[in-house]
Amino acid sequence: MHMDKGLDHTIIGESTKSFIDGQKGILEFNGIDIDALARHSTFEEVTFLLWNDRLPNADELAAFEAEIRSEYELGPELLDMLRLVPRDASPMHVLRTMVSAMGTTDPDCNDQSFESERAKAMKVLAKTPAIIAAFSRLRKGEEPVAPKPDLNVATNFLWMLNGEMPGEASARAIDVCLVLHADHGINASTFSAMVTIATQSDMYSALTSAIGTLRGPLHGGANERVMHMLQDIGSIDKVDGFVAESLASKSKIMGFGHRVYKALDPRAKYLRTFAEKIADETGNHDLYAMSTRIQDIMEREVGDKGIYPNVDFYSATTYFSLGLEIDLFTPVFALSRNAGWAAHVLEQHQDNRLIRPRCQYTGPHGSDYVPIEER
Ligand code: CMC
Repeated sequence: MHMDKGLDHTIIGESTKSFIDGQKGILEFNGIDIDALARHSTFEEVTFLLWNDRLPNADELAAFEAEIRSEYELGPELLDMLRLVPRDASPMHVLRTMVSAMGTTDPDCNDQSFESERAKAMKVLAKTPAIIAAFSRLRKGEEPVAPKPDLNVATNFLWMLNGEMPGEASARAIDVCLVLHADHGINASTFSAMVTIATQSDMYSALTSAIGTLRGPLHGGANERVMHMLQDIGSIDKVDGFVAESLASKSKIMGFGHRVYKALDPRAKYLRTFAEKIADETGNHDLYAMSTRIQDIMEREVGDKGIYPNVDFYSATTYFSLGLEIDLFTPVFALSRNAGWAAHVLEQHQDNRLIRPRCQYTGPHGSDYVPIEER
């Protein structure tokens, strides 16, 4: 037995889904470099890749897309439940609650076959955009917009969110963000999902665990914190002072650092280029300039410690420039990561072993039970 707090040095099993080289800054899904996928692929195709360990041919992709689109609708039961959620609830709490609620409306929730668990994953993946979009509208006093089954996931999401057709560039920008966030080894939320399915629980429970885990600011919640940080800093002339003060007081700069990457996160490299392009298109130059200034100072001050921007740093400005409300940033991360969570859950389901680590007990032994009236 060895102690590994944080599991930094523990390999918990085998996986064919994603490969990370943290020293060289490489990420591959089933052997394909993330950069190639971001340039050429779509969220639907990457989901097929993660679930089947190979790229689809044209017919297979069309059938897979049709399957996703056939599940876009929330249906009256889930919509009624969503209408009962307090309007001021955090969207991540809402998403977690609704994915959990999906288990209550599925007659096959206790069918533990691989096919049934895959079908549940498909339902969650396809309906998550509708949950986020409908809640965003309901809390503003607007009616949910019905999905359009002729649109891909990214375009349909923006359509349901805004009630108008997005431009091609915005829809592609969201699609690329979904590709980049789709999987990332055994990160904290994926691990959470795997622990849950390893008890022979079910896909809804596993994905509910994962959403709850993603929410924290040390994980997916960082993208929202990045945006609040940039807003608090306010302008480029305050950046140097802010970073210096944060480093001196040992406060974490959100969107920097990673447990695995000690080089630039390859997703951040791609998102930086993207953030620049979108800043040019939307006129959000200040945010982009502040971000690059923070990166420059951080690389100078703590680059030798392996602290570089992670995926959340430039995705924050990208989402903001695209007009997303800040508290929807992490739900959009979850929307995408459904693909990876389900891939790992299905992998665990096929070769399962209960995940049950131990801790080093440091309490007393042989203590007396003292009756309550004597305490
Ligand atoms: N800003 C300043 N210093 C940092 C940062 C940061 N963002 N991240 C790590 N450090 C320093 C830390 O202070 C420590 O320094 P020292 O050795 O002098 O005490 C050293 O680097 C190691 O930090 P750690 O927290 O022990 O490292 P970890 O592997 O446990 O943490 C992390 C990884 C992601 C939790 C951490 O880097 C962090 O809190 N970053 C900010 C939050 C964030 O951006 N999270 C998103 C993670 S990536 C996307 C995702 O997974 O969802």
